Amino acid sequence: MRKKVIAGNWKMNMLPNEAISFIEQIAPLVKNTKNEIILCVPYTDLFYSLLTAQNTNIKIGAQNMHWEEKGAYTGEVSGQMLKSIGTQYVIIGHSERRQYFAETDETVNKKIKSALLNELNPIICVGETLEQRELGKAEEIITKQTELALEGLTKEQMKKVILAYEPIWAIGTGKTATSEDANNSIKAIRKKISELYGKDTANETIILYGGSVKAENAKELFSTSDIDGGLVGGASLKVDEFSKIILAV
Ligand code: 13P
Repeated sequence: MRKKVIAGNWKMNMLPNEAISFIEQIAPLVKNTKNEIILCVPYTDLFYSLLTAQNTNIKIGAQNMHWEEKGAYTGEVSGQMLKSIGTQYVIIGHSERRQYFAETDETVNKKIKSALLNELNPIICVGETLEQRELGKAEEIITKQTELALEGLTKEQMKKVILAYEPIWAIGTGKTATSEDANNSIKAIRKKISELYGKDTANETIILYGGSVKAENAKELFSTSDIDGGLVGGASLKVDEFSKIILAV
């Protein structure tokens, strides 16, 4: 049985004082859940969030990293740096990074490898655009992205990996994929993992859905056969809403 994972992606929101207050407020509300809770916060909130989340069941992640350990890469933050302050997770290949910051399947793969070398758990995002979906290419796109992201990873490394299926047309738009569509897309990703690593690894891999997850639709999405939880944007910024999503299943 795979555990459920509910991850928040704060994107470029929340100042340190807001992060501290959010974690202090939500921790007691969700302390009894068996679900894994992850908050992926901006770099400037990481240290404060890690300190505030100590002795709670909330894990902290970053939203990006560079693949090199160190060097002349102005403005970048490495996996080694993230690990050094206690960060456990890092989102890699979010569609906003692919779209606005020229991230490619190749850089996504490099980042994933570097995250794993630094003992960080990557949360790898894949997803199709509306146009690709309308052309009937969604499955082809997301399975290809999955294959390229995972290229060169060992079976052992796959145990540390979380995938997130985030259809681009559902992000921040209020349009959620139907639970059936999202579940089918995630099944296709799992099938690809099975081809690459075998059935056992595929059955153990956590695959999340992201795109307008709310308290209102969380239970239905997370109760399907293959959706193992959510990667939540907007709704992870509100204590009340996010705690309901965490407790939905
Ligand atoms: P929304 O939940 O705001 O649609 O964002 C989803 C997302 O991009 C999470 O990474």
